[in-house]
Amino acid sequence: MYAIIAHGGAGKVREKDPKEVENGMKKAVEAGLEVLKNGGRALDAVEATVNVLEDDPLFNAGTGSVLTFDGEVEMDAAIAYGPNLDFGAVAGVKNIRHPISLAKKVMEKTDHVLLAGNGANDFAKLMGFEYHDPITQKRKEQWEKYRKQFINGDYKDWPKLRKLFQEHPEFLHGTVGAVAVDSHGECAAATSTGGVFLKLLGRVGDTPIPGAGTYATPFGAASSTGLGEGMMRVLITKVAADFLGMGLDAPHAAEAVLNYLNNTVGTEAGIIIVDRHGEVGMAHNTPDMPHAYFKEGMSEIKVAMR
Ligand code: GLY
Repeated sequence: MYAIIAHGGAGKVREKDPKEVENGMKKAVEAGLEVLKNGGRALDAVEATVNVLEDDPLFNAGTGSVLTFDGEVEMDAAIAYGPNLDFGAVAGVKNIRHPISLAKKVMEKTDHVLLAGNGANDFAKLMGFEYHDPITQKRKEQWEKYRKQFINGDYKDWPKLRKLFQEHPEFLHGTVGAVAVDSHGECAAATSTGGVFLKLLGRVGDTPIPGAGTYATPFGAASSTGLGEGMMRVLITKVAADFLGMGLDAPHAAEAVLNYLNNTVGTEAGIIIVDRHGEVGMAHNTPDMPHAYFKEGMSEIKVAMR
């Protein structure tokens, strides 16, 4: 029984965007579904879904990624393949169109799990990835506005940043991810992000860290979104995968792991989960988390904002 669920980031969707966000989510799940329907692998399905979201400037991944404090884009991405606990990731990668596909190359073509910074960019060139500028005019304007607000707010260190995200969850809106199980019962997860607005150069979030933003085991797969500094400490997708291993289904694992996060670090977060039996689950503590899913037997893709 195959199934796929994708998210477009935990946070708050701006009022004028919902229809476009819904369309973007649906298009992305359609791409993954095309792979699964034809007997393809969950690994290729989650890559196809995330590629569509990376190309959509509404989402904070690939084109449309948010800018660092210095006005640059540094992207993180990871892909995980459940049957062997395989994992490939990139951190702080610049000027490519599809960071998730580079993460897949790390998994398939190297003996490493995570490549960062200049090394990741050199590897992209070696793999034939072409130069692509992911900065959009809209993100530049937002960056200028937020940066001004931030500076006027006497920014000193990260607790201030965290408070800012709590007061303005729309800052977090971003990160994309997909998890799927295919007709062979294999599970995979993929997550891609520009990180968080105004992050310091070199900051790496949860997305490319195994068990933090992305994880897959023989029991299921999970992808998270929200403030990475919390999820890296909770290892939210690893905890979710362990809950699946203990026998919870995806909806209950999602609820349980979000409770765990709320009772520990308490940062803004969201998660999507698939289990090997074809159930999907999702949970978030932010106002919105656009997501879309399809389970074998459904007549159409279901899209929701929260
Ligand atoms: N969850 C995305 C990040 O914190 O980078």
